[in-house]
Amino acid sequence: FSLKPYNTFGFDVKAKYFVEVNTINELKDVVRTHKKEDLFILGGGSNMLLTKDISQTVVKLNLRGIEITKETDDFVWVEVQAGEVWHQFVLWAIENGYGGIENLSLIPGNVGTTPIQNIGAYGVEIKDVMVNCKAISLTTGNIQTFSNQECQFGYRESIFKNKLKNQFIILSVTFQLTKRNHNLKISYGAIQNTLEQSHITCPTIKDIGNAVIAIRESKLPNPAEIGNSGSFFKNPVVDKKVFEKLHQVYPDMPFYTVSDTLVKVPAGWLIEKSGFKGYRIGDAGVHNQQALVLVNYGKANGNQVKKLAEMIQREVRKIFDIAIEAEVNIF
Ligand code: EPU
Repeated sequence: FSLKPYNTFGFDVKAKYFVEVNTINELKDVVRTHKKEDLFILGGGSNMLLTKDISQTVVKLNLRGIEITKETDDFVWVEVQAGEVWHQFVLWAIENGYGGIENLSLIPGNVGTTPIQNIGAYGVEIKDVMVNCKAISLTTGNIQTFSNQECQFGYRESIFKNKLKNQFIILSVTFQLTKRNHNLKISYGAIQNTLEQSHITCPTIKDIGNAVIAIRESKLPNPAEIGNSGSFFKNPVVDKKVFEKLHQVYPDMPFYTVSDTLVKVPAGWLIEKSGFKGYRIGDAGVHNQQALVLVNYGKANGNQVKKLAEMIQREVRKIFDIAIEAEVNIF
């Protein structure tokens, strides 16, 4: 069974067994009848680099549904099932006038994977709007609720990527969204520029969503056309002293202050400066608009993209003495 349509890189790896589950009861059955080592859970397939055929049973989660579970004059709680497409949910929220996730428009993937890596863009992360998530234990089959705090969110990090890696399947996520007094985040230059170009001075959540969509479409490749997984690397966080030395040599290096002692540097900039923007070996390449995104132009396989990623990591380390780490999960 080919997983090509099920991973956004479009790698043609094979799964020995493939099941789609549409209800929690079906999923419980699968969990009950398999050891956790024998399962491979697939959400939107948007954050994975598959390098070989999969001998486990691949489970495609199709749990669907969006439900308001609590409402006041100011906000709603919305429980969204794991198999909903993230961007469709964002559009649903914007259409209903619910604010909080408009900056996260057009991020590929399904709702169930959003807490795992605490997705984020343009000044908003899932941790800012998530109340809790429900997950099933692959060991016991029990369903457990994790509060926002229990998820131990960090920059593209959560407990599900660390201590509880491969231990739980996320079933649904509950978000708290605003009905009025929206907390609009428009500090990113790209958002401000886009709003200005459209002569928008008092943006609505829809205006912001549209701005983010326009920005992303202008520089991020659409996985339906060119296989990719969004940002391939995380932006490295470096010691302020290390950064200051580098900044003297490269005064144009962009940066974000993380704390008194730490600075985050855009990996895309480091990769571009290392000469890789638009670089290509066969069908494995570095996107020509955004060097942080590795792409499959058609016939590349996971190992070729992995080799390219390792080559980039070596070169960035050689030039800047900075280690950049993959954001994408490599299997
Ligand atoms: N830059 C370059 N060359 C490049 C790419 C970027 O010089 O090829 C520079 C830009 O000019 C800018 C800086 O790097 O000064 C940052 O670039 P950008 O604003 O495009 O954001 P990013 O750091 O590359 C991060 C997230 C994105 C998110 C954007 C917007 C990570 C790993 N990536 O990218 O998330 O959309 O910020 O908030 O944190 C994703 O995770 O898949 C993703 C797309």
